[in-house]
This record gives sequence, structure tokens and C-alpha cells, in this order.
Amino acid sequence: MKITEQIKEPILREMELFETKFHDAMASKVALLNRITYYIVNRKGKQMRPMFVFLSAKMVSGGTVNERTYRGASVIELIHTATLVHDDVVDDSNRRRGFFSINALWKNKIAVLVGDYLLSKGLLLSIDNGDFDLLRIISVAVREMSEGELLQIEKARRLDITEDVYYDIIRQKTATLIAACCALGAQSVIEDAATVEDMRYFGELIGMAFQIKDDLFDYTDEAIGKPTGIDIKEQKMTLPLIHVLNNCTAKEKSWLINSIKNHNKDKKRVKEVIAFVKDHHGLSYAENKMEEFQQKALRILDKFDDSTYKEALIVMVNYVIERKK
Ligand code: IPE
Ligand code: IPE
Ligand code: MG
Ligand code: MG
Repeated sequence: MKITEQIKEPILREMELFETKFHDAMASKVALLNRITYYIVNRKGKQMRPMFVFLSAKMVSGGTVNERTYRGASVIELIHTATLVHDDVVDDSNRRRGFFSINALWKNKIAVLVGDYLLSKGLLLSIDNGDFDLLRIISVAVREMSEGELLQIEKARRLDITEDVYYDIIRQKTATLIAACCALGAQSVIEDAATVEDMRYFGELIGMAFQIKDDLFDYTDEAIGKPTGIDIKEQKMTLPLIHVLNNCTAKEKSWLINSIKNHNKDKKRVKEVIAFVKDHHGLSYAENKMEEFQQKALRILDKFDDSTYKEALIVMVNYVIERKK
């Protein structure tokens, strides 16, 4: 069995129902919007966030989900989709999920508005159903994601990023939403605050590993469905580069900084920087850190009784760092 099938096995029915509900949740009276959301639904991603929601709910409750769980999963995937649409505008990226990004096909103006629309549809789905406890979890994530993307831009401008600031950035822009998935999944079915907090922290840790993996992809030439090698061009400094910057000679450091500051659109120069990072063990350093977060996440799952849901979550934790896209 494929690893993704293994993860989905205990939540097959939930994921199937989720697909319809997620699609319905995007409906609009505006034909242009429906064309775009149709395009989005047909090019779906890995759907890891709804999987985290359902597996978390089922693990903590011994197999129960309810309408709140479904709505929570839809809200989170709507918000995730909105942030990707906006992120591709911010990062000036023309590919997503193996095809053109929304901004590449419909331009920035429309992409910004579509992102706002998806965000509002997500929030309304919670509000209209009175899921205010879930909405609180989600809204914290929405705020933090914007802060994380802005912190990244601020630090990139000054090129003074440290490893700790990098962790702050990825915690906010990525880990927070995965933390919300796990917390919300639990909160949708049980009332024990300590368990919800355990799940939130579990999601945060695996979310950190998830973004480090995403940043490692940028250093490869593999076909992952979106551009690689664009982070340096966009002056986005990630862990492999940060580590090398802090562990090379002053002369090398000023060459690196000068390359990123003044030659970031020069393809040959960017390739040289990438090669330098690889030669100086930037990738293996980041891989080790990623595994540290993964191991910490697994330790939290130790607190829970064994079940098929817990097993699937463990497989998923491993998938986060072994995935090919
Ligand atoms: C991409 O997330 C954005 C990041 C936080 C790195 P995913 O890799 O989960 O995107 P899809 O939904 O599968 O396309
Ligand atoms: C994660 O950052 C995006 C969001 C949290 C919205 P990236 O810019 O690295 O994500 P990708 O690589 O474009 O998916
Ligand atoms: Mg991006
Ligand atoms: Mg990336």
C-alpha cells in the first residue's frame, strides 16, 4: 500500500465526504469566481490539513467525528487555499500543484480578490454555524500566518536573520495552521483542554518539520509541482543558507550577502550560492533539525493509547519528512 493510502485508510469515508463539502463551501453567484474555484478544486493538493483534522479527532475520541469536525476541516482547507493564492502573488510564483498559479492565469488583481473571498467564506462557515470555539483556534492561525509572511519580508530586507528568527517565521507562517488542524480536530469532539493543547503542540512541531522540508525542496531540481530555486531570487533566507551564513568566513559571508542583496536575479550567481550552501553542509544541517522536530512530535503521540488512528498519524509524521512533493 502507498504511504498516502495507509494514512487515509482510517479516514476514507471522512475524506470522501469532505471533498463534496469543501467544494460546496466555495460556491458563489459570480460566474468568474466559480470558474476559478472549479479550477482550484480540480487541482487539489495533498490535503494534509484535513487529514490532520480527522485523524486528530478520531484519535482523541476513539473514532468519532461530527459536523463540527467536517466544517473545521473545510474552513482550514479554505484558508490554506487562500494563503497559497496570496503567497504566489507575494512570491511572484507562476506554478502551483503542477500547473499555473492563479496569478499566472488571471493576474495579481484577481488572485488577491479570490484569496480574500476564500478567506471570508471560511470564516463565515464557522460563524453561520456557531462554531465559535473552533473559530477562535482558526483566527489565531490566520493572524499569525500574515505576521509570519510579513516578518519574513522584514528580515529578508535587512538580511540579518538568525536561526531563531527563522523558527519564529516558520512557526507563524506554516506551523500555526497545522497546529490549528490538530487542536481543532480534538476540540470538535472532546472538551478536555489539556488534550487539545497536546494536539496543538503536536501540530506545531510537525508543522515546523513540514516547512523545513518545503524549504529543502527549494534547493533541489525535483519536479514537486511548483518552482524550485526561487527562494534566493526572492531574498527568502531559509535554514540551509542561514546555517552556512553563520558558519563561514567573514569574506565568504560578505560574498553571500552581496549575492543575495545585489545579484539575486542573476541566475548564474544564484546557482553558485546554492552550490556553496550544499558544499558547506547547509542541507544536512537542516535535515537534522527537521528530524529533531519530527522526533519531538512523535514523543507527544506517546501520551495517547494505541489505535489505528494513532498509527496513521505516526505514518503521517514520517510522510512529512519523506514526501516527494
Ligand atoms: C504548501 O503547503 C505551503 C506551505 C506551508 C509550505 P502544502 O505542501 O500542504 O500544499 P498543497 O495543499 O499540498 O498544495
Ligand atoms: C509557505 O511559504 C506559504 C504559506 C504559509 C502561505 P512558501 O512560500 O515557502 O510556500 P511555497 O513553497 O510557495 O508553497
Ligand atoms: Mg511561496
Ligand atoms: Mg517554499
